Formats: sequence, structure tokens, C-alpha cells
Amino acid sequence: MTVPETAAGAGLQAAESLTELRAEAAGQRAGAAHHGGDALVTCERLVRIYSADGIEQQALQGLDLVVTHGELTAVVGASGSGKSTLLNILAGLDKPTAGLVWVAGHDLTAMGRSERLAYRRNTVGFVWQQTSQNLLPYLTGRQNVVLPMKFGRVRRKDRQSRAEELLAMLSVSHCSGRRPEQMSGGEQQRVSIATALANRPRLLLADEPTGELDTITSQQVFAAFREVNARLGVTVLVVTHDATVSGQVRRVVSIRDGRTSTETLRQQAHDGEDDMSAEAVEYAVLDRAGRLQLPRELTEPLGMRDRVRLQAAADHIGVWPDSPARQPGSGTIAEGG
Ligand SMILES: Nc1ncnc2c1ncn2[C@@H]1O[C@H](COP(=O)(O)OP(=O)(O)OP(=O)(O)O)[C@@H](O)[C@H]1O
Ligand SMILES: [Mg+2]
Repeated sequence: MTVPETAAGAGLQAAESLTELRAEAAGQRAGAAHHGGDALVTCERLVRIYSADGIEQQALQGLDLVVTHGELTAVVGASGSGKSTLLNILAGLDKPTAGLVWVAGHDLTAMGRSERLAYRRNTVGFVWQQTSQNLLPYLTGRQNVVLPMKFGRVRRKDRQSRAEELLAMLSVSHCSGRRPEQMSGGEQQRVSIATALANRPRLLLADEPTGELDTITSQQVFAAFREVNARLGVTVLVVTHDATVSGQVRRVVSIRDGRTSTETLRQQAHDGEDDMSAEAVEYAVLDRAGRLQLPRELTEPLGMRDRVRLQAAADHIGVWPDSPARQPGSGTIAEGG
């Protein structure tokens, strides 16, 4: 089974692949908890189909993603590629149409109402793009951070001190007594991060948290994510349009057409010190079934469509177009390796 690459035929193959996915999901459910070892987040073949006015929109088309404990990962991709759909599923706000999704031992496809509520209160924290969605306008910074603790598991006598600690960690102690309208956009987002962390979530999700901020302020907000990731050990997944993101985090996952397509990992620089100088390396994602999505920038110039030839070498695999002029050994193609 392959996920259709072209719009034509997508509708036809979608139903077929959906049935297959459901059947596979049932078979794999038992084993999924073990997959990924120390994974905090495991998504396998995640599908989300929206139906509106009789038109089906495949927002996620078999997305695979594993995030291990303590990682700080950015998710990038074109508008409409499925980033928010993925985050809403991980946040427990939406359910996938098919596929598996596990977060911190919770099977998000099988959670009942009360488990879902507890999951949203205690296991995940969420920061939205619009600051107005994150903070209540008539409460001060500290009151906003304390609010979720009233529904969570932080003891009453610890709430004020925890709120102050979080605000200090995010360098916004001075916003403790201010209402959101008395804070800058960057300050509002840092208070929002504190609020999202109030109940000690395992996973912090953020959907374009810097979308309304300028470059310098965005960098400060990314620095705040790095800070809480390093100091609290909370796993962070941030969706962003910010082109400079690869300089801000170690792992960047690209989503294209509802699937993870490539990943960029920054290797630690040899002197081990300056993160910004570390070399970024782009990887294609290989899923559990061995499927690989080749970037169009690479396949189109070579006229690769429908099928390619593979040639194994000792330390790499060559990928060749299916044309008589270009075959393994003809020397017309530089092999990546
Ligand atoms: N509630 C919905 N009903 C119908 N279609 C939807 C719904 N939500 C999203 N979609 C569609 O699903 C696809 C993925 O949407 P999604 O919001 O996940 O994209 P995105 O990557 O977050 O985009 P952006 O960068 O613009 O925020 C889009 O084609 C979108 O039109
Ligand atoms: Mg979005």
C-alpha cells in the first residue's frame, strides 16, 4: 500500500488505504506501547479525514512520528500540511480517523471522557498562537498561572510559590501583577508558557506561538522553550512558520501533505559549546514499513515518477530513475551517500 502522491486517484485510494489502516491498527494496537522504546509520543500511520459538505479532506495521510522523553522538536510545513491537526490530536482535543497515537502511556484513540479530561489537565500543556487564547484578560499573570492548578494536582499551599517560580524561570516575574494588556506580546507568550506548565505536564505543545511576534521577540520565546526544556525536562513540540527555527532547536520535523517527510538534526559542534554553529543535516524519514518519501526537489529534475530502481552498495543505497538512459552504472547520476 502506498499513500497517493498525486491528487488524481487520491480519492479512490483513500478509502482502500483507510480500510487497510484500520485493520492494521487493530492488529498493532497491542504492540504499539512498546514501539519506540523510551518514546513519550508515538504516532503510527495517523490519518485524519475531515468531511465538510460531502467533501473529504485528508489532513493527515498516514503520519509517523516518534518523540522521545526530553526532546525539543519543531514541526514545520506549508499551510494546510496538517500541523495543527496533529497538535490538536496530541492535545486530546481531536481524534484521528485511523492510526495509533500514544502519549505518556495513554492511548489517545481509546480514552474515555474522564481520562481525556485528566489527560488534558495534567499530561499536556498547550500554547496557542493568539495570546488572547492563552490568558484570561481580567486576571494578572500570577492568577493566570494559578488557575489551571485549581483543576490539577498541585496542592493549594504550593500554588502561589509555583506560579512565582515559573514566572521567574521565564524571566517575566515583573508581569506577576499585570494583566495581559499591560504586557508586551513576547511577555504574554512567556506567561502563557508558564500557565501551560502549571500542572507539570509531560508534554508541552505550542501551535505557532511566535506567529504574531517579530524576529527578536520570537527568538526570546524560543529561548524560553529551550530553558523550560532543559530545566524541567518537559518534552516540547512547537509548530512554527519561522524560517530561522532550525537555528533554534536541535530537531526539526517537516510535514508535507499530512505525513512527516524530512527531518533536520543539528549535530553537536565539536567544541560542544556553541549550539548555533552546529551543523544541520537533513534526513528523509524511513517509516516502520520501510517507506521513504523522496523530496520533490530531488525527484522531479530526474523525472522520477511511479517507480525507481534501487541499487545496494556496501554503505548506501542508490536510487535511479526508471529510464533506459539512466541506469545504475551509467554514471549520469551522483549518488547521495
Ligand atoms: N475542521 C476542519 N474541517 C475541514 N477541513 C479542515 C478542518 N481543519 C483543517 N482542515 C483541513 O485540513 C488540512 C490541514 O489543516 P491544518 O489546520 O492541520 O493545517 P496547518 O498545517 O496547521 O496549516 P497552517 O500553517 O495554515 O496553520 C487543510 O487542508 C485544512 O483545510
Ligand atoms: Mg495551523
